[in-house]
Amino acid sequence: MRVRGGVRFSRALGGALLLVVAAFVLGVGAEDGKPESAHRPYAGAALDTSGASPFVRRGGGDHGRARRAPATRPSPAPLATEHHGAVAAEHPRAAEIGGEILRRGGNAVDAAIATAYAVCVLNPSSCGIGGGGFMLVQDASGTVYALDYRESAPALAHRDLFRRDETVLAELSRRGPLAVAVPGEVAGLEAARIRFARLSRAELLAPAIALARDGFPIGAHLAAEIAGNAGALGSSPALAHLFLHEDGSARREGEPVQFPALAATLEAVATGGADAFYRGATAAAIAHSVDGSGGILTADDLARYRPQWRTPLHVRYRGFEVFTMPPPSSGGVLLEMLNVVAHDDLAALGARSPAYLHLLAEAMKDGFADRARWYGDPAFTTVPVAQLTSDAYGRALRARIRPDAVLPPSRYGTSPDSGTTHLSVVDDDGMAVACTTTINTAFGAMLMDEESGVVLNNEMDDFAIAPGVPNTFGLIGGEANAVAAGKRPLSSMTPVIARSHTPHVGEPLPEILAVGGSGGPLIISASLQTLLGLIDFGLDARAAVSAPRIHDQWEPPRLGAEAGIDEATRTELARRGHDVRVMTFAGAVEAATYRDGRFDGAADPRKGGGAVTR
Ligand code: DON
Repeated sequence: MRVRGGVRFSRALGGALLLVVAAFVLGVGAEDGKPESAHRPYAGAALDTSGASPFVRRGGGDHGRARRAPATRPSPAPLATEHHGAVAAEHPRAAEIGGEILRRGGNAVDAAIATAYAVCVLNPSSCGIGGGGFMLVQDASGTVYALDYRESAPALAHRDLFRRDETVLAELSRRGPLAVAVPGEVAGLEAARIRFARLSRAELLAPAIALARDGFPIGAHLAAEIAGNAGALGSSPALAHLFLHEDGSARREGEPVQFPALAATLEAVATGGADAFYRGATAAAIAHSVDGSGGILTADDLARYRPQWRTPLHVRYRGFEVFTMPPPSSGGVLLEMLNVVAHDDLAALGARSPAYLHLLAEAMKDGFADRARWYGDPAFTTVPVAQLTSDAYGRALRARIRPDAVLPPSRYGTSPDSGTTHLSVVDDDGMAVACTTTINTAFGAMLMDEESGVVLNNEMDDFAIAPGVPNTFGLIGGEANAVAAGKRPLSSMTPVIARSHTPHVGEPLPEILAVGGSGGPLIISASLQTLLGLIDFGLDARAAVSAPRIHDQWEPPRLGAEAGIDEATRTELARRGHDVRVMTFAGAVEAATYRDGRFDGAADPRKGGGAVTR
């Protein structure tokens, strides 16, 4: 075990103290380990889908600042391993950069930040400093923190932004200046760095700056995204210059690409921090690019942007404590699904059995129906997340699932009135990071500020631009997720950290799993199935992320099944009433784990990432 810069705390402090501290900082009730929110009164029938709220108002707990851990905390016993940790990311080079940071004495957060900046350069179609995300961090004492650096709607946004009279102008929320929400990426990564990192900002940004400045060969994923979006890229001269040949054809895998303007912006951030992005010349250039082409993003919006520390959601599942992001992420939706399947012996049913897949699909429909009805920015709408993620609600939903048939769509829930990149890191201090970040669809709004080299997000499309009108991922929503000034659009991003028990002083580390993914709504179903693979089916990281998956988002009423789910099983699922379609992409998940005394990491082969153990 190497000794690094960070402080190791005395093991003599004793387990009892740690238990008290852990219970306090986690909000874990001593009596049964549930977060205090789970004890709030649950009013009304869980299965009431009449339209009236079955839930009582919840007292603010899900959008408070994460409770600060004491300044000195005892740590669990360091690992007896020659390895420093594992990093899984959507580009092998980005994972290597994270691994190198661990090797040089950085912790999981240092590695996550360097990996995030690097992957945003290597896969600029998936993420970037023009976007935003969520980061879940477990520190060495076991305290879990949830950082929300989701983009927010500009101050001039309003609920009818994408409506003209009776017409919904969906395209405006997907491409071009009006699609752009205030980016949160730099502010978020800085907030994480200031709170947890050991290495300097300059050290963490250096690999990304070098990639952007010196260039790198286009990877398989980026090449596919360029080819698939060549038409749209062609209509933006700045993007065309970077990603297309002079004749308009797509640059191919292996061809070199450089981002000098972005390198200069990243260098400015390395020197000046978040202010170098949110104020001054960069902010003015970004606002000018958006505003000057018909958008509403202003320099003031950028200056006012703040990331938010939130209280993580937590459930117990088969001896694991599972933590995830609260709204405006979809972590609660995953926990709801987990609570539905918790009452069955999934391993006994079998990972590819119709019985298991049917149960899973039904649980997904329940979760997505509740997502459409209830979920949005908690600063603007009351999300009854404690109730939706309660064991009682999960049991009630499970009780009405018919073993042999689906229910009519309206029985899963009612929608109101009518209606990314992920990286995972675990380290030998017992720290873990699950970080998902996005510019929404490939190359975001297809709008790049030439001066700063920043590709801007199209996150406004994650709002429900009108009740019942599906967004680009077919997701619907209503009032809870309507457009409003300063509001954060609901996200499907679902970073998850699970551990087998709370770390105790002097004891070996618990098993730790960090999971999450990209792929719009597929993130929720893919992360859930990866977690079930790791916990219920005993798979290692590679097998868990690679196993064939299903997806059912309730609306539209379709069950996607990968070709790896054999035809006989698909036929049996169809017999039960599922409208089964073979799906060609099931999201991409990255998992990093510490189990049985060793680190393991895997990136989803569906998106060609990479993982390292260092
Ligand atoms: O936050 C969300 O839900 C979307 N912006 C995620 C988009 C996504 O995952 C695209 N896929 N790689």
